[in-house]
Amino acid sequence: TKIPEVEALLSKMTLDEKIGQLNLLTPGGGIATGSVVSENVEAKIKAGQVGGLFGVSGPDKVRKAQEIALNHSRLKIPLLIGSDIIHGYKTTFPIPLGTSSSWDMELIKRMAQTAAKEATADGINWNFSPMVDISRDPRWGRIAESAGEDPFLGSAIAKAMIEGYQGNDLTNSATMMACVKHLALYGAVEAGKDYNSVDMSRTKMYNQYLPVYKAAVDAGVGTAMTSFNDIDGIPASGNKWLITDLLRKQWGFKGMVVSDYTSVNEMTAHGLGNLQDVSALAINAGLDMDMVGEGFLATLKKSVEEGKVSEEQITNACRRVLTTKYQLGLLNDPYRYSDDERPKKDILTEENKLLAREAAKKSFVLLKNHQQTLPLKKSAKIALIGPLANNKNNMLGTWAPTGDPQLSIPVLDGFKNIASGAITYSKGANITDDKELATLANVFGTRVEIDPSSPETLLDEALKTAKSAEVIVAVVGEASEFSGEAASRTDISLPKSQKNLLRELAKLGKPMVIVLMSGRPMTLEEENELPASILQVWHSGIEAGNAVAEVIYGDYNPSGKLTATWPRNVGQIPIYHSTKFTGRPAPKENNYQKFKSNYLDVDNSPLFPFGYGLSYTSFEYKNLHLHKTKIKSDESVEVSVDVSNTGEFDGEETVQLYLRDVVRTITPPKRQLKGFKKVYLKKGETRTVQITLHTDDLKFYNSELQHVAEPGDFEVFVGTDSNASLKAEFELE
Ligand code: IFM
Repeated sequence: TKIPEVEALLSKMTLDEKIGQLNLLTPGGGIATGSVVSENVEAKIKAGQVGGLFGVSGPDKVRKAQEIALNHSRLKIPLLIGSDIIHGYKTTFPIPLGTSSSWDMELIKRMAQTAAKEATADGINWNFSPMVDISRDPRWGRIAESAGEDPFLGSAIAKAMIEGYQGNDLTNSATMMACVKHLALYGAVEAGKDYNSVDMSRTKMYNQYLPVYKAAVDAGVGTAMTSFNDIDGIPASGNKWLITDLLRKQWGFKGMVVSDYTSVNEMTAHGLGNLQDVSALAINAGLDMDMVGEGFLATLKKSVEEGKVSEEQITNACRRVLTTKYQLGLLNDPYRYSDDERPKKDILTEENKLLAREAAKKSFVLLKNHQQTLPLKKSAKIALIGPLANNKNNMLGTWAPTGDPQLSIPVLDGFKNIASGAITYSKGANITDDKELATLANVFGTRVEIDPSSPETLLDEALKTAKSAEVIVAVVGEASEFSGEAASRTDISLPKSQKNLLRELAKLGKPMVIVLMSGRPMTLEEENELPASILQVWHSGIEAGNAVAEVIYGDYNPSGKLTATWPRNVGQIPIYHSTKFTGRPAPKENNYQKFKSNYLDVDNSPLFPFGYGLSYTSFEYKNLHLHKTKIKSDESVEVSVDVSNTGEFDGEETVQLYLRDVVRTITPPKRQLKGFKKVYLKKGETRTVQITLHTDDLKFYNSELQHVAEPGDFEVFVGTDSNASLKAEFELE
């Protein structure tokens, strides 16, 4: 449907002005994630050569930018103001891999709403989020920004985030336009190396990797961003099959598509021709907006003159950019996001910080509770040790450029805020002693400092501190910038300095808790063998320290569940729960057999499976029941199970349902997540939990790429993680 206001504008526009709207620039005020930032931005806005900006914030600055467009450009078209608000604006929430571990859609939606309220108060109307890329390779640094490995959970999270950002009414100035990214398959870059190629079968794409983007489209996302990688040899930003055939025609997406940072120009490096060639390829593929590269600005007119691009293609792209502005209400009121009163009312409020604390607590995953050391008594004498124990610089995590690390609560402060016993602190080790790695991690500020004291001195001090305490709490892990964009690692274990610290602390024989911060699943085999409990806390945002303390002391019982499988070593990667059987499945996960699909040197099983996470209490599952054992193709199956809290604490459990299609025309995964429900159970309480399986949940894309449910037997597994063993069966007639 054409919008009269947009059509009226289009009818007045010259070709140059239409091309101008397709240009997204950054003056470099935020984080520049490419080698160039835009030049002469003001002059370009005046000349009608800019459709939007990012890296500009604050009602005053945004007002000034709009004034330049409104007072000096011929057609006075307001600008889109974009930003990367990946996990909170100034109130930084845990990294997305952390919040996904909450499995709490209502919480995730509230966080997105809060991020929108804060960001719009600061002038932003367009957010480059949610990042929904399925991530099954923890070497890839951007796994931190993702919701992990699973398309069913990832789709639910995408929907919750989009609903949170956009609300019901985009002209409400506390909501902003979302942008689903990165289309497509960016999480499947070869060898986990950022920006690398992706090569994947269509059935794998359709069944495993594409559903998340489609879910975002179905949830009404306003815009989409292409990825850096190529798919079947064509980079996403110039891939007509992807942008036009799949996204627009098959999925019915009506919104605007923006490239990633200079990804149009980068198609020359991919080997597809000069700037004019690749810009023409991109616009003809259906891309609307060119981020930072200015290839559209520099070459599209020439391409029209030479007949390589039609003016209609450019008009269509411009229409989508203008429609986005219309949907945001900018064409009626360009200054709607420039209210000077809002920042102090809406940003970093107590309410927002409490939400950040709640999100952090719910994101933590208890990986091990050795001899039930946790929770600790508030009166215990604690030695808090480790390079991340009193460290503000690494609490926020990657991609938090709008947050201020200095506002974050370090773990030491969090402990002091609620402990009644003595807390002593020692650093114990550097995050890493590797100077080169430290320098690389400091690209966006000081994240890793190498202490002037020698590693031996740091360790001696820590051992001394530990000896005089009852319990050791070691806070270790990755620096924020060990994960994130262009931060892939081939070794995802703890740096040597910290491994050594933990080894030496464990030798003291005291009760010990490892609080682990990271932006990815880590290889932790050695640490898992230590007589210690392990609480995974990711990079958990502005309230990190308070949240860690409340969980360690039992004010909140941890309930997070992993959303990406933790391998034993990097050689097992890719490892995820929905793998296939192969024709020679290993009879048991952990017993090597010749001529079976297994390794000589490591078990098939991961260290921690998808969906895994302990609680201070224990849960028991009984009486798995299906209301029907034969269904027709339009019917659903009601699955019920009794879940009891059999331990000593009240707590939350995420009941998970996995499905196996026993026989089908393309090889089925061993099991796939198809339902979950988070329940709160008081100590001693039993509840019957019901999950409905719809026919759609039985469907898959066959080799003709038809979405079908094939008749036959299905197995349902319900339990506490992806190894769930309670089983029931039904037949689709
Ligand atoms: O939104 C991001 C994207 O995820 C990675 N490249 C830069 C973009 C804009 O900052």
